[in-house]
Amino acid sequence: MSETSKAGGLAGVTAGQTAISTVGKEGVGLTYRGYSIEDLAQDATFEEVAYLLLNGEPPKATERDAFIRSLGAARALPEPMRELLEKLPATAHPMDVLRTGCSYLGCLEPERDFSAGLGASIRLLAAFPSILLYWYHYHQNGRRIDTRQGGRSIASHFLTLLHGREPEPLDCRALDVSLILYAEHEFNASTFAARVCAGTLSDYHSCITSAIGTLRGPLHGGANEAAMEMISRYETPEAARTGTLAALARKEKIMGFGHRVYRDHDPRNTIIKDWAQRLGAARGDRRYYPVSEAIEQVLWEEKKLFPNLDFYSASAYHFLGIPPTLFTPVFVCSRVSGWSAHVFEQRANNRLIRPDAEYIGPAPRPWAVRAGR
Ligand SMILES: CC(C)(COP(=O)(O)OP(=O)(O)OC[C@H]1O[C@@H](n2cnc3c(N)ncnc32)[C@H](O)[C@@H]1OP(=O)(O)O)[C@@H](O)C(=O)NCCC(=O)NCCS
Repeated sequence: MSETSKAGGLAGVTAGQTAISTVGKEGVGLTYRGYSIEDLAQDATFEEVAYLLLNGEPPKATERDAFIRSLGAARALPEPMRELLEKLPATAHPMDVLRTGCSYLGCLEPERDFSAGLGASIRLLAAFPSILLYWYHYHQNGRRIDTRQGGRSIASHFLTLLHGREPEPLDCRALDVSLILYAEHEFNASTFAARVCAGTLSDYHSCITSAIGTLRGPLHGGANEAAMEMISRYETPEAARTGTLAALARKEKIMGFGHRVYRDHDPRNTIIKDWAQRLGAARGDRRYYPVSEAIEQVLWEEKKLFPNLDFYSASAYHFLGIPPTLFTPVFVCSRVSGWSAHVFEQRANNRLIRPDAEYIGPAPRPWAVRAGR
């Protein structure tokens, strides 16, 4: 048996090259196109980061303004899309709505050839909040919202559509930073799925639809929703300690902790934890942030496990008034920038992605069934 198959899950395997980001490299941390995540979260906007990922270099002021104008113009949903969203069940998971919406946009506005890929990515970046929140409001309160409203940024678009009013600057910047943190993460499972699809020379919308389906699971993007469900179970830090110790004793996985690549911390956690604390303080929270810290402490003491980006994103999104089932869809609204960059990178130097498998089934044997012919 090879070392690879013993480890399982392709752990430690270098599956290709990328110039888009580094994850967990000694002394480098997380970078997007060479820029540290700390600098980007401090000084950039999500739109600048999305432009950087898609184009390889940061935008000049005129390019940034043109990019923001293109995003603003791409928020409107065509009538057939609105009809589809109205027909989808109110009980659907919002991730299924985004997956379906993405696939349907590929029917309505197909990528005719690969030169249209960048335009299709701008369309999806702008349209995902519209698709999600049009469906949400129609089924929650029967309202057909105008998805074109909502300020210049994707964060303000999202929060305006969700709450029906202009967001506070603190809330808007908190979501903006969270979108920066979620934008890109090298060969994670959903990005790899997008690249496998791109490697067959399939169309852009198929690549992103594959990625959304892969992100949905609780071991990947679904962890932020699952973490909120767990945090909400506890009223006090003491109850959180007791409950978490009991869960560990039952050998349960605690969502929002651990990572395949990072060994002792996730650099994105320091940033989102700080924002969760600021948002909690602004709302006079005395429950969710202290409960989260108690869980973090137990995981470190008992298992040396550290929070990943998803853990404190949960309480941060809660403070922003985002319902838990929309947490992973927010991840989609951001990560579509990284997925798209990877699709374009794969296409630029493509070879079909098709690994070998180690066969562990029965030895060759004769087919002896004759009956019924
Ligand atoms: C991220 C994750 C999938 C990485 O998985 P992986 O590299 O395949 O590591 P494994 O799942 O094999 O875990 C290795 C060991 O750590 C334990 N472990 C890892 N994450 C754990 C967690 N969140 N809670 C409890 N135990 C955990 C495993 O039980 C396993 O212990 P064992 O060797 O005694 O069986 C894993 O840490 C996890 O499931 N985390 C929770 C989901 C999550 O937050 N996902 C978002 C990732 S950004």
